[in-house]
Amino acid sequence: MERKIILEHIDVKGIRSIEVYRSMGGYDSVAKALKSMTPDEVTEQVINSGLRGRGGAGFPTGRKWSFIDKKSNNPRYLICNADESEPGTFKDRYLMEHIPHRLIEGMISASYALGANTAYIYVRGEFKYIIGILNQSIKEAYQQGFLGKNILDSGFDLDIYVHPGAGAYICGEETALIESLEGKRGTPRLKPPFPAIKGLYDCPTVVNNVETLANIGWIVNNGAESYAQIGIGNSKGTKLISACGNINKPGVYEIEMGLPVETFIYNEKFCGGIKNGKDLKAVIPGGSSVPILPKELILKTADGKKRLLSYESLSEGGFQTGSMLGSGGFIVYNENACIVRNTYNLSRFYHHESCGQCSPCREGTSWMEAVLHRIEHGHGKQKDIDLLVEIASRIEGNTICPLGDAAAWPVAAAIRHFRHEFEFHVEHPEIVKNIRHGSLAKYAK
Ligand SMILES: Cc1cc2nc3c(=O)[nH]c(=O)nc-3n(C[C@H](O)[C@H](O)[C@H](O)COP(=O)(O)O)c2cc1C
Ligand code: SF4
Repeated sequence: MERKIILEHIDVKGIRSIEVYRSMGGYDSVAKALKSMTPDEVTEQVINSGLRGRGGAGFPTGRKWSFIDKKSNNPRYLICNADESEPGTFKDRYLMEHIPHRLIEGMISASYALGANTAYIYVRGEFKYIIGILNQSIKEAYQQGFLGKNILDSGFDLDIYVHPGAGAYICGEETALIESLEGKRGTPRLKPPFPAIKGLYDCPTVVNNVETLANIGWIVNNGAESYAQIGIGNSKGTKLISACGNINKPGVYEIEMGLPVETFIYNEKFCGGIKNGKDLKAVIPGGSSVPILPKELILKTADGKKRLLSYESLSEGGFQTGSMLGSGGFIVYNENACIVRNTYNLSRFYHHESCGQCSPCREGTSWMEAVLHRIEHGHGKQKDIDLLVEIASRIEGNTICPLGDAAAWPVAAAIRHFRHEFEFHVEHPEIVKNIRHGSLAKYAK
């Protein structure tokens, strides 16, 4: 239940340095991949492992690599997406801060598989200290012959560069990231063409999440079958979950896919239960963009099965009674949490971060924020609640990139499961205006 792949050896003193990392078997996979496997064999291992992208959408990683345009004579690129800006998600920065060589090791075999001689780590600019750590680790990898020309006498060359972003959530979207890396304003491109055909500088490119790439070394070392045996169903391997909110032990945990949500929340090895002995009210299980679920539906699915931390189990029931694993940002709310206030805060975030390129997102996020502002502050009308549902439904599926959906889903889900709280705000403006938030819980049952 606490299986470690990514965070294995994290407690070893000095693991951030290449010497200590190598003494624990670090970088063994590079020699294996470059010297005894063809690039296609590496891709095949990743396909057979069942690894799915850890950036949020869960697309199979090996299949994504197999789409790279091999007919093109242009250079190919690998980009590691280390932008990590989704509220509630802080797993990638933890990985890069504590065990950065795990990422670089994975990037070498991934670049080899793709035929990329240049790779970038696009990192959120605010992570200044992490940029320093990554640059130091890359320097060490060059010194020990794992980067640069003719790596380990294999004939394969690779350079890795760290590129700081300016701190915009939209720059985590892969095509906006590519625009930003090219030195332009970070606005998403229309897809298709997908980056595997036309990505960075119009060349074939794969964008992968930090955690995704950090799995590659283990898969190369241990083989696809060993990886595929870990986890459950089509959710293979382990997953980093960043847990926060009203819990006793916030932090980043590596779990084997399939761990029951209830165990994750209450077991001392993980979140250690709800703070101050309060009751659980709701959880956003996969970063702020995925639907919130009330206690009954996060612990069990609608048909009474244990809800598990896996792609399939969390999405069971569709959006009516389920949610998504997303990026693994697990936000826990206790009985006192005000869902209206939380939804308003999220709405402010998505409005602020909309790049403004498409009207449903640009206008819709601003409109939702305005309506939620008046409900939250005791000026709302009953019809505002349906208006929010209507605006969210008009944004969803009608935009260039998924930020529109990410803005719509939290609002729609909050109203779906906690409509009574929105109605309470509308019906009791005097209480909403005068009472400190949190204590509303005793009114809004
Ligand atoms: C608004 C927005 C922000 C995103 N932010 C991130 C991010 O910070 N990190 C990330 O890996 N993926 C992010 N994604 C998903 C990426 O577009 C892309 O799917 C992902 O990096 C692919 O990596 P994977 O296949 O390894 O999951 C974001 C998507 C959207 C729409
Ligand atoms: S959905 Fe929003 S963030 Fe995405 S391209 Fe359109 S306006 Fe920009």
